[in-house]
Amino acid sequence: MTRSGSRVLGIESSCDELAAAIVRDGVVVLASVVRGQDAVHGPYGGVVPELASRDHVAAVSQVVDAALDEAGLGLDELTGVAVTAGPGLMGSLLVGLSFAKALAFQRGLPLVGVHHLAGHLAAAELVDDALRPPYLGLVVSGGHTALYRVEADRAPALLGETRDDAVGEAFDKVAKLLGLPYPGGPVLSRAAEKGDPAAVDFPRPLAETAGLDFSYSGLKTAVAHEVARRQPLGEGDVADLAASFEAAATDVLVARARRALEQEGLGRLAVVGGVAANRRLRAELAAAAARQGFHLVFPPPSLCTDNAAMIAAAGTRLLDRGERHGWDLTASSRIALGADDLPPGSVR
Ligand code: KG4
Ligand code: ZN
Repeated sequence: MTRSGSRVLGIESSCDELAAAIVRDGVVVLASVVRGQDAVHGPYGGVVPELASRDHVAAVSQVVDAALDEAGLGLDELTGVAVTAGPGLMGSLLVGLSFAKALAFQRGLPLVGVHHLAGHLAAAELVDDALRPPYLGLVVSGGHTALYRVEADRAPALLGETRDDAVGEAFDKVAKLLGLPYPGGPVLSRAAEKGDPAAVDFPRPLAETAGLDFSYSGLKTAVAHEVARRQPLGEGDVADLAASFEAAATDVLVARARRALEQEGLGRLAVVGGVAANRRLRAELAAAAARQGFHLVFPPPSLCTDNAAMIAAAGTRLLDRGERHGWDLTASSRIALGADDLPPGSVR
Protein backbone atom coordinates (compact mmCIF):
# COMPACT_ATOMS: atom_id res chain seq x y z
CA MET A 1 0.00 0.00 0.00
CA THR A 2 1.30 3.43 -0.83
CA ARG A 3 2.06 6.15 1.70
CA SER A 4 -1.00 8.27 2.41
CA GLY A 5 -1.04 11.89 1.44
CA SER A 6 1.10 11.69 -1.69
CA ARG A 7 0.02 13.80 -4.66
CA VAL A 8 2.26 13.00 -7.58
CA LEU A 9 2.26 14.87 -10.88
CA GLY A 10 2.83 12.57 -13.85
CA ILE A 11 3.99 13.78 -17.25
CA GLU A 12 3.93 11.63 -20.40
CA SER A 13 5.24 12.85 -23.77
CA SER A 14 6.89 9.80 -25.33
CA CYS A 15 5.09 9.88 -28.67
CA ASP A 16 2.25 11.99 -30.07
CA GLU A 17 0.24 12.40 -26.88
CA LEU A 18 1.15 15.00 -24.30
CA ALA A 19 -0.40 14.21 -20.95
CA ALA A 20 -0.32 15.42 -17.36
CA ALA A 21 -2.11 13.86 -14.40
CA ILE A 22 -2.20 14.02 -10.62
CA VAL A 23 -2.66 10.84 -8.60
CA ARG A 24 -3.28 10.77 -4.84
CA ASP A 25 -1.84 7.94 -2.75
CA GLY A 26 -0.91 6.05 -5.92
CA VAL A 27 -4.50 5.02 -6.55
CA VAL A 28 -6.86 8.01 -6.84
CA VAL A 29 -6.77 9.91 -10.14
CA LEU A 30 -7.44 13.55 -9.22
CA ALA A 31 -6.87 14.81 -12.75
CA SER A 32 -5.87 13.35 -16.11
CA VAL A 33 -5.41 15.57 -19.15
CA VAL A 34 -4.40 14.15 -22.54
CA ARG A 35 -3.66 16.30 -25.55
CA GLY A 36 -3.59 14.32 -28.81
CA GLN A 37 -2.09 15.43 -32.12
CA ASP A 38 -4.29 13.67 -34.68
CA ALA A 39 -4.84 16.93 -36.55
CA VAL A 40 -1.07 17.52 -36.74
CA HIS A 41 -0.14 14.07 -38.10
CA GLY A 42 -3.36 13.17 -39.95
CA PRO A 43 -2.29 14.73 -43.26
CA TYR A 44 0.89 12.60 -43.22
CA GLY A 45 -0.87 9.35 -42.28
CA GLY A 46 1.52 8.71 -39.38
CA VAL A 47 3.45 10.41 -36.59
CA VAL A 48 6.09 12.90 -37.80
CA PRO A 49 8.58 13.01 -34.89
CA GLU A 50 9.79 16.58 -35.43
CA LEU A 51 6.21 17.91 -35.51
CA ALA A 52 5.32 15.89 -32.39
CA SER A 53 8.07 17.41 -30.27
CA ARG A 54 7.43 20.94 -31.55
CA ASP A 55 3.77 20.65 -30.65
CA HIS A 56 4.67 19.29 -27.20
CA VAL A 57 6.96 22.28 -26.55
CA ALA A 58 4.15 24.69 -27.37
CA ALA A 59 1.64 22.94 -25.11
CA VAL A 60 3.45 21.42 -22.14
CA SER A 61 2.98 24.25 -19.69
CA GLN A 62 -0.75 24.59 -20.52
CA VAL A 63 -1.34 20.86 -20.15
CA VAL A 64 0.29 20.75 -16.71
CA ASP A 65 -1.70 23.84 -15.66
CA ALA A 66 -4.90 22.17 -16.88
CA ALA A 67 -4.18 19.09 -14.73
CA LEU A 68 -3.55 21.25 -11.65
CA ASP A 69 -6.82 23.14 -12.32
CA GLU A 70 -8.78 19.91 -12.78
CA ALA A 71 -7.40 18.58 -9.48
CA GLY A 72 -7.98 21.93 -7.75
CA LEU A 73 -4.38 21.90 -6.51
CA GLY A 74 -1.54 24.38 -6.50
CA LEU A 75 2.07 23.48 -7.28
CA ASP A 76 2.89 23.75 -3.57
CA GLU A 77 0.52 20.85 -2.84
CA LEU A 78 2.43 18.34 -4.99
CA THR A 79 4.70 15.83 -3.28
CA GLY A 80 6.63 14.51 -6.28
CA VAL A 81 7.06 14.49 -10.05
CA ALA A 82 7.10 11.36 -12.22
CA VAL A 83 7.95 11.49 -15.90
CA THR A 84 8.27 9.01 -18.76
CA ALA A 85 12.01 8.66 -19.45
CA GLY A 86 11.77 6.03 -22.21
CA PRO A 87 11.27 4.32 -24.54
CA GLY A 88 9.82 6.61 -27.21
CA LEU A 89 10.72 9.34 -29.66
CA MET A 90 13.78 11.16 -28.33
CA GLY A 91 12.59 14.69 -29.13
CA SER A 92 9.15 14.02 -27.65
CA LEU A 93 10.56 12.40 -24.49
CA LEU A 94 12.93 15.32 -23.88
CA VAL A 95 10.10 17.86 -23.76
CA GLY A 96 8.34 16.14 -20.85
CA LEU A 97 11.57 15.22 -19.14
CA SER A 98 13.04 18.72 -19.31
CA PHE A 99 9.81 20.26 -18.05
CA ALA A 100 9.54 17.73 -15.21
CA LYS A 101 13.14 18.30 -14.15
CA ALA A 102 12.80 22.07 -14.18
CA LEU A 103 9.57 21.93 -12.17
CA ALA A 104 10.93 19.46 -9.61
CA PHE A 105 14.14 21.45 -9.23
CA GLN A 106 12.34 24.75 -8.81
CA ARG A 107 9.82 23.38 -6.27
CA GLY A 108 12.32 21.17 -4.42
CA LEU A 109 10.28 18.05 -5.26
CA PRO A 110 11.60 14.51 -5.69
CA LEU A 111 11.82 13.41 -9.33
CA VAL A 112 11.50 9.90 -10.70
CA GLY A 113 11.78 8.62 -14.27
CA VAL A 114 9.31 5.90 -15.27
CA HIS A 115 9.56 3.27 -18.00
CA HIS A 116 6.64 3.77 -20.39
CA LEU A 117 5.62 0.09 -20.20
CA ALA A 118 5.84 0.07 -16.40
CA GLY A 119 3.35 2.93 -16.67
CA HIS A 120 0.99 0.91 -18.89
CA LEU A 121 1.11 -1.99 -16.41
CA ALA A 122 0.51 0.39 -13.49
CA ALA A 123 -2.74 1.47 -15.17
CA ALA A 124 -4.12 -2.02 -14.51
CA GLU A 125 -3.01 -2.02 -10.87
CA LEU A 126 -4.51 1.46 -10.51
CA VAL A 127 -7.99 0.25 -11.41
CA ASP A 128 -8.03 -3.14 -9.69
CA ASP A 129 -6.92 -3.73 -6.10
CA ALA A 130 -7.22 -7.48 -6.66
CA LEU A 131 -4.45 -7.43 -9.27
CA ARG A 132 -1.60 -8.50 -7.02
CA PRO A 133 1.68 -9.85 -8.38
CA PRO A 134 2.50 -12.38 -9.59
CA TYR A 135 0.42 -11.80 -12.70
CA LEU A 136 0.74 -11.95 -16.47
CA GLY A 137 1.02 -8.58 -18.23
CA LEU A 138 0.09 -8.42 -21.91
CA VAL A 139 1.32 -5.12 -23.36
CA VAL A 140 -0.28 -4.32 -26.71
CA SER A 141 0.39 -0.90 -28.21
CA GLY A 142 1.66 0.90 -31.29
CA GLY A 143 5.26 0.14 -30.37
CA HIS A 144 5.05 -3.04 -28.28
CA THR A 145 3.53 -6.50 -28.22
CA ALA A 146 4.91 -8.44 -25.29
CA LEU A 147 4.10 -10.74 -22.41
CA TYR A 148 5.65 -10.18 -18.99
CA ARG A 149 5.60 -12.09 -15.76
CA VAL A 150 5.16 -9.34 -13.17
CA GLU A 151 6.50 -10.09 -9.69
CA ALA A 152 6.45 -7.97 -6.56
CA ASP A 153 9.62 -5.87 -6.08
CA ARG A 154 11.38 -7.45 -9.01
CA ALA A 155 11.86 -6.42 -12.62
CA PRO A 156 9.13 -7.87 -14.85
CA ALA A 157 10.43 -10.90 -16.77
CA LEU A 158 9.91 -10.84 -20.54
CA LEU A 159 8.25 -14.08 -21.67
CA GLY A 160 7.72 -13.29 -25.33
CA GLU A 161 7.49 -10.37 -27.74
CA THR A 162 6.89 -9.57 -31.38
CA ARG A 163 9.58 -10.56 -33.84
CA ASP A 164 8.55 -7.83 -36.28
CA ASP A 165 5.62 -5.37 -36.19
CA ALA A 166 3.72 -4.47 -33.02
CA VAL A 167 0.02 -5.32 -33.10
CA GLY A 168 -1.03 -1.64 -32.95
CA GLU A 169 1.34 -0.90 -35.80
CA ALA A 170 -0.36 -3.71 -37.78
CA PHE A 171 -3.79 -2.15 -37.07
CA ASP A 172 -2.48 1.23 -38.24
CA LYS A 173 -0.83 -0.15 -41.41
CA VAL A 174 -3.84 -2.27 -42.37
CA ALA A 175 -6.13 0.73 -41.83
CA LYS A 176 -3.98 2.64 -44.30
CA LEU A 177 -4.19 -0.24 -46.82
CA LEU A 178 -7.98 -0.09 -46.49
CA GLY A 179 -7.96 3.66 -47.13
CA LEU A 180 -9.20 4.48 -43.63
CA PRO A 181 -8.27 7.80 -42.07
CA TYR A 182 -5.63 8.30 -39.39
CA PRO A 183 -5.44 7.23 -36.56
CA GLY A 184 -5.93 3.76 -37.96
CA GLY A 185 -6.51 1.38 -35.05
CA PRO A 186 -9.75 2.74 -33.57
CA VAL A 187 -11.15 3.65 -37.01
CA LEU A 188 -10.48 0.13 -38.33
CA SER A 189 -12.14 -1.34 -35.27
CA ARG A 190 -15.28 0.72 -35.89
CA ALA A 191 -15.33 -0.32 -39.58
CA ALA A 192 -14.97 -3.98 -38.48
CA GLU A 193 -18.25 -3.81 -36.54
CA LYS A 194 -20.16 -3.84 -39.86
CA GLY A 195 -18.09 -6.65 -41.41
CA ASP A 196 -17.93 -10.44 -41.27
CA PRO A 197 -14.93 -11.69 -39.26
CA ALA A 198 -15.10 -15.00 -41.13
CA ALA A 199 -15.10 -13.41 -44.60
CA VAL A 200 -11.39 -14.13 -45.10
CA ASP A 201 -9.46 -16.74 -43.14
CA PHE A 202 -6.27 -14.73 -42.59
CA PRO A 203 -3.24 -16.47 -41.05
CA ARG A 204 -2.85 -16.48 -37.26
CA PRO A 205 0.97 -16.31 -37.19
CA LEU A 206 2.63 -18.39 -34.44
CA ALA A 207 -0.71 -18.76 -32.62
CA GLU A 208 -0.35 -22.48 -32.08
CA THR A 209 3.43 -22.89 -32.13
CA ALA A 210 5.62 -23.41 -29.07
CA GLY A 211 7.08 -20.36 -27.34
CA LEU A 212 5.41 -17.05 -26.60
CA ASP A 213 6.61 -14.77 -29.40
CA PHE A 214 4.35 -12.89 -31.80
CA SER A 215 4.62 -11.97 -35.47
CA TYR A 216 2.39 -9.52 -37.35
CA SER A 217 4.16 -8.72 -40.61
CA GLY A 218 2.88 -11.85 -42.40
CA LEU A 219 -0.71 -11.03 -41.48
CA LYS A 220 -0.30 -7.49 -42.77
CA THR A 221 1.11 -8.84 -46.07
CA ALA A 222 -1.80 -11.28 -46.39
CA VAL A 223 -4.23 -8.37 -46.03
CA ALA A 224 -2.25 -6.39 -48.64
CA HIS A 225 -2.62 -9.27 -51.13
CA GLU A 226 -6.36 -9.53 -50.51
CA VAL A 227 -6.74 -5.76 -50.88
CA ALA A 228 -4.90 -5.91 -54.21
CA ARG A 229 -7.07 -8.82 -55.38
CA ARG A 230 -10.33 -7.01 -54.56
CA GLN A 231 -9.58 -3.65 -56.14
CA PRO A 232 -11.50 -1.38 -56.26
CA LEU A 233 -12.65 -1.83 -52.65
CA GLY A 234 -16.30 -1.20 -51.87
CA GLU A 235 -17.61 -0.32 -48.40
CA GLY A 236 -18.54 -3.98 -47.81
CA ASP A 237 -15.01 -5.14 -48.72
CA VAL A 238 -13.49 -2.66 -46.26
CA ALA A 239 -15.79 -3.81 -43.46
CA ASP A 240 -15.16 -7.52 -44.16
CA LEU A 241 -11.38 -7.14 -44.48
CA ALA A 242 -11.26 -5.00 -41.32
CA ALA A 243 -13.31 -7.56 -39.39
CA SER A 244 -11.31 -10.53 -40.70
CA PHE A 245 -7.98 -8.83 -39.93
CA GLU A 246 -9.17 -7.82 -36.46
CA ALA A 247 -10.28 -11.38 -35.74
CA ALA A 248 -6.90 -12.83 -36.77
CA ALA A 249 -4.91 -10.19 -34.88
CA THR A 250 -6.88 -10.61 -31.66
CA ASP A 251 -7.13 -14.44 -31.85
CA VAL A 252 -3.33 -14.58 -31.70
CA LEU A 253 -3.27 -12.38 -28.59
CA VAL A 254 -5.88 -14.52 -26.86
CA ALA A 255 -4.10 -17.80 -27.76
CA ARG A 256 -0.72 -16.49 -26.58
CA ALA A 257 -2.10 -15.09 -23.32
CA ARG A 258 -3.84 -18.39 -22.53
CA ARG A 259 -0.68 -20.37 -23.24
CA ALA A 260 1.41 -18.02 -21.06
CA LEU A 261 -1.03 -18.26 -18.14
CA GLU A 262 -0.87 -22.03 -18.33
CA GLN A 263 2.88 -22.24 -18.79
CA GLU A 264 3.60 -19.83 -15.93
CA GLY A 265 0.92 -21.20 -13.64
CA LEU A 266 -0.64 -17.74 -13.24
CA GLY A 267 -4.27 -16.94 -12.49
CA ARG A 268 -4.30 -13.20 -13.19
CA LEU A 269 -3.97 -11.34 -16.50
CA ALA A 270 -3.65 -7.59 -17.09
CA VAL A 271 -4.01 -6.32 -20.65
CA VAL A 272 -2.66 -2.83 -21.22
CA GLY A 273 -1.63 -0.40 -23.99
CA GLY A 274 -3.63 1.24 -26.76
CA VAL A 275 -4.84 -2.00 -28.38
CA ALA A 276 -6.33 -3.06 -25.03
CA ALA A 277 -9.06 -0.54 -25.90
CA ASN A 278 -10.12 -2.85 -28.74
CA ARG A 279 -13.65 -4.14 -28.23
CA ARG A 280 -13.20 -7.52 -29.87
CA LEU A 281 -10.06 -8.27 -27.83
CA ARG A 282 -11.89 -7.30 -24.64
CA ALA A 283 -14.87 -9.52 -25.48
CA GLU A 284 -12.79 -12.55 -26.53
CA LEU A 285 -10.57 -12.39 -23.45
CA ALA A 286 -13.56 -11.87 -21.15
CA ALA A 287 -15.11 -15.03 -22.62
CA ALA A 288 -11.86 -16.97 -22.12
CA ALA A 289 -11.59 -15.70 -18.53
CA ALA A 290 -15.16 -16.78 -17.78
CA ARG A 291 -14.52 -20.24 -19.24
CA GLN A 292 -11.16 -20.83 -17.58
CA GLY A 293 -11.62 -18.88 -14.39
CA PHE A 294 -8.66 -16.51 -14.55
CA HIS A 295 -8.86 -12.97 -13.18
CA LEU A 296 -8.83 -10.48 -16.06
CA VAL A 297 -8.10 -6.76 -15.78
CA PHE A 298 -8.54 -4.22 -18.55
CA PRO A 299 -8.10 -0.57 -17.66
CA PRO A 300 -10.89 1.63 -19.08
CA PRO A 301 -10.04 2.73 -22.64
CA SER A 302 -8.87 6.19 -21.46
CA LEU A 303 -6.19 4.48 -19.33
CA CYS A 304 -5.24 2.01 -22.10
CA THR A 305 -4.02 4.58 -24.59
CA ASP A 306 -1.15 6.85 -23.57
CA ASN A 307 -1.93 8.94 -20.50
CA ALA A 308 -0.10 10.38 -17.51
CA ALA A 309 -2.19 8.88 -14.70
CA MET A 310 -0.37 5.59 -15.34
CA ILE A 311 2.98 7.37 -15.09
CA ALA A 312 1.99 9.10 -11.85
CA ALA A 313 0.75 5.78 -10.40
CA ALA A 314 3.96 3.91 -11.35
CA GLY A 315 6.04 6.86 -10.14
CA THR A 316 4.28 6.96 -6.77
CA ARG A 317 5.30 3.36 -6.15
CA LEU A 318 8.93 4.15 -6.92
CA LEU A 319 8.92 7.32 -4.80
CA ASP A 320 7.31 5.46 -1.90
CA ARG A 321 10.19 2.99 -2.04
CA GLY A 322 12.60 5.92 -1.70
CA GLU A 323 13.73 5.93 -5.31
CA ARG A 324 14.86 9.24 -6.75
CA HIS A 325 16.52 10.29 -9.96
CA GLY A 326 19.05 13.11 -10.09
CA TRP A 327 19.04 16.10 -12.39
CA ASP A 328 21.26 14.07 -14.71
CA LEU A 329 18.34 11.76 -15.61
CA THR A 330 18.27 11.43 -19.39
CA ALA A 331 15.75 10.04 -21.84
CA SER A 332 16.35 6.67 -23.52
CA SER A 333 14.59 6.13 -26.83
CA ARG A 334 15.11 2.36 -26.56
CA ILE A 335 15.24 0.71 -23.19
CA ALA A 336 13.90 -2.72 -22.28
CA LEU A 337 11.61 -3.11 -19.31
CA GLY A 338 13.36 -5.24 -16.72
CA ALA A 339 16.57 -5.38 -18.71
CA ASP A 340 18.71 -5.07 -15.61
CA ASP A 341 18.54 -5.61 -11.88
CA LEU A 342 16.78 -2.34 -11.13
CA PRO A 343 13.27 -2.45 -9.65
CA PRO A 344 10.28 -2.29 -12.02
CA GLY A 345 9.95 1.05 -13.67
CA SER A 346 13.44 2.31 -13.02
CA VAL A 347 15.32 3.78 -15.90
CA ARG A 348 18.97 4.56 -16.20
O1 KG4 B 1 -0.41 2.83 -25.96
P1 KG4 B 1 -0.64 3.71 -27.13
O2 KG4 B 1 -1.56 4.89 -26.96
O3 KG4 B 1 0.72 4.28 -27.65
C1 KG4 B 1 1.88 3.53 -27.73
O4 KG4 B 1 2.59 3.43 -26.68
O5 KG4 B 1 2.10 2.95 -28.82
O6 KG4 B 1 -1.13 2.77 -28.32
C2 KG4 B 1 -1.46 3.31 -29.57
C3 KG4 B 1 -1.85 2.16 -30.50
C4 KG4 B 1 -2.04 2.60 -31.94
O7 KG4 B 1 -1.38 1.69 -32.80
C5 KG4 B 1 -3.55 2.54 -32.11
O8 KG4 B 1 -3.94 2.28 -33.43
C6 KG4 B 1 -3.92 1.40 -31.19
O9 KG4 B 1 -3.08 1.57 -30.06
N1 KG4 B 1 -5.35 1.44 -30.79
C7 KG4 B 1 -6.25 0.50 -31.15
C8 KG4 B 1 -7.49 0.90 -30.61
N2 KG4 B 1 -7.30 2.08 -29.93
C9 KG4 B 1 -5.97 2.38 -30.06
N3 KG4 B 1 -6.12 -0.63 -31.87
C10 KG4 B 1 -7.22 -1.39 -32.06
N4 KG4 B 1 -8.43 -1.07 -31.58
C11 KG4 B 1 -8.62 0.06 -30.85
N5 KG4 B 1 -9.84 0.36 -30.37
ZN1 ZN C 1 1.97 3.54 -24.84
